[in-house]
Amino acid sequence: MPNTNTDANLWCIVPAAGRGARFGGEIPKQYLPIGGKPMLMHTLTRLAMHPRIAGVMVVLAPKDAYWAGLGSLRGKPVRTATGGEERADSVLAGLRALREQVQDSQFILVHDAARPCVRAADITRLIELGVPAGGALLAAPVRDTLKRAGTDSRVVLTEPREARWRALTPQLFRYGELSAALEAAGGGAAITDEAMAMERAGHRPLLVEGSDDNIKVTTAADVTLAEFLLTRTAQES
Ligand code: CTP
Ligand code: MG
Repeated sequence: MPNTNTDANLWCIVPAAGRGARFGGEIPKQYLPIGGKPMLMHTLTRLAMHPRIAGVMVVLAPKDAYWAGLGSLRGKPVRTATGGEERADSVLAGLRALREQVQDSQFILVHDAARPCVRAADITRLIELGVPAGGALLAAPVRDTLKRAGTDSRVVLTEPREARWRALTPQLFRYGELSAALEAAGGGAAITDEAMAMERAGHRPLLVEGSDDNIKVTTAADVTLAEFLLTRTAQES
């Protein structure tokens, strides 16, 4: 009899094993101070504060010298695993490390360390809509006009904007289905989010509209924006 208790609290895997190559600099971007606190700590605190999150599994780079080594946050367990070469490999490592904690039929969340501005209300909506749908992701509709470029940087054509969404995180899937989908996809750079692995395995994840300000910090300009958003949404979310 599979566990169908959809009210159970969820573990959240936080891939934080990236190098931040596009950001550059000495410190990996997930440890950059935002308002005096490392980005990863902002992200973990927001997750741990959410009433539906049972604990966080932080996936760290093999030689991470910056991890603060905490075992709990806001009363929730914080565990760690060692990540891999690409994001999908790191998420797989996090899933494997949760094998004892989570049953196949239970849902888990995956949330990028580099998205510190995630709102509690978006996590709640993702869980409320995503659990009955069997799997879901936060996403934002594309608002700009999209151009396809040729190798000469000239426009080849204008892509339709309708029905195009940007995939955000958290993403929510059943532990067993996501593990199987990522294992089957073989990890690596080609799989850029969990939903993609699920799509390849024949699933059709639900798109749950999330806030545009759940940005992925990728460049230096994003840090300034994240700092602004974190102080602003601290009161609201
Ligand atoms: N990540 C990871 N393991 C990897 C690569 C990425 O856990 N091998 C994590 C990052 O730490 C980040 C999230 O996946 O929290 C999203 O990745 P991205 O924003 O691309 O971060 P980086 O890969 O670090 O940055 P870049 O692509 O510029 O190198
Ligand atoms: Mg990357």
